[in-house]
Amino acid sequence: MKILVTGGLGFIGSNFVRYALDTHRDVEVVNVDAMKHGSNPDNLRDIEESDRYSFVKGDIADYELVKDLVREVDAVVNFAAETHVDRSISSPHSFLQSNVVGVFTILEAVRKENPDARLVHISTDEVYGDILEGSFREEDRLKPSSPYSASKAAADMFVLSYVRTYGIDARITRCTNNYGPYQFPEKLIPKTIIRAVKGLRVPVYGTGQNVRDWLYVEDHCRAIDLVMREGERGEVYNISSGEERTNIEVVRTILDILGKGEDQIEFVEDRPGHDVRYSLDSSKVREELGWKPELSFEEGIKRTVEWYLQNGWWWEPLADDRVLHPTPWRLEW
Ligand SMILES: NC(=O)c1ccc[n+]([C@@H]2O[C@H](COP(=O)([O-])OP(=O)(O)OC[C@H]3O[C@@H](n4cnc5c(N)ncnc54)[C@H](O)[C@@H]3O)[C@@H](O)[C@H]2O)c1
Repeated sequence: MKILVTGGLGFIGSNFVRYALDTHRDVEVVNVDAMKHGSNPDNLRDIEESDRYSFVKGDIADYELVKDLVREVDAVVNFAAETHVDRSISSPHSFLQSNVVGVFTILEAVRKENPDARLVHISTDEVYGDILEGSFREEDRLKPSSPYSASKAAADMFVLSYVRTYGIDARITRCTNNYGPYQFPEKLIPKTIIRAVKGLRVPVYGTGQNVRDWLYVEDHCRAIDLVMREGERGEVYNISSGEERTNIEVVRTILDILGKGEDQIEFVEDRPGHDVRYSLDSSKVREELGWKPELSFEEGIKRTVEWYLQNGWWWEPLADDRVLHPTPWRLEW
């Protein structure tokens, strides 16, 4: 099976490339990535010599490039996106370009060049907006809060419209917050680990009461692989762990694993429009495809802290001013 992965130099995409190659001996991956913010060639350093892997530097909004890549493959898994919510607030235009025009370009290429290819579009829980109680199901209405989540919601609508109008074989996954190896140091969990290890203060937005559902990245990759192989055309699948934690709980757990004190925590000014709680009902993917997460949050976070402690070679070059001396504080998850 030949898969075109887009955004495979980013956090989840690189984990998926490694997962797909390790799990299925018959899989070949072509990775196209524009090498934007969040990408890192070191994420796939260990597999770049594999004869089942190749890399193309390019933009998913470039139709001439994408049409040639799509023609050759059995499936497309689209991770490529601008993902940094704070950046979408300060400069939204690039989010429209990559997350909407880029997805539209892939859809056009699939429809015209390879309508039999399966497309898995990776979306997010943020398209539903926040929810104080209960959990969103796939058929709930979309109500994005930030330019980032609005761009992702627009892309989801394009994907579903192409299934209905042109009959392409696409499906969508919407997942909760991922964490694990190779996550960019700006994000909450790696940033907390790195700053705590260096003896620096650990920033927490507002009072730290925002709730997120945390999914270990490899569990997410397994779900995407299942949706690609066994999911139904035109369906949306929510993917969540059910492991909801407030941000302050996450930070305290990390400090505890590292044997650090809570006096390292510093509460900082909240993000505008900050969603209070995200929560997804993922019974559809569990019941229809038999997926469930293998790692509890406690196991996953221990494994993640361990990975960062052992892989300074990977994060030290990335832990620049944004991670070590951000002014004003910028914290992302
Ligand atoms: N990280 C999470 O917790 C999370 C949660 C839910 C959904 N998602 C979704 O999963 C996907 C991957 O997220 P991530 O955290 O790995 O992001 P990331 O920022 O680490 O990686 C995104 C990758 O996409 C590439 N990219 C961006 N625009 C591109 C373009 N126009 N053409 C080609 N490549 C481009 C970047 O260079 C980068 O390598 C995104 O679609 C995101 O919306 C992420």
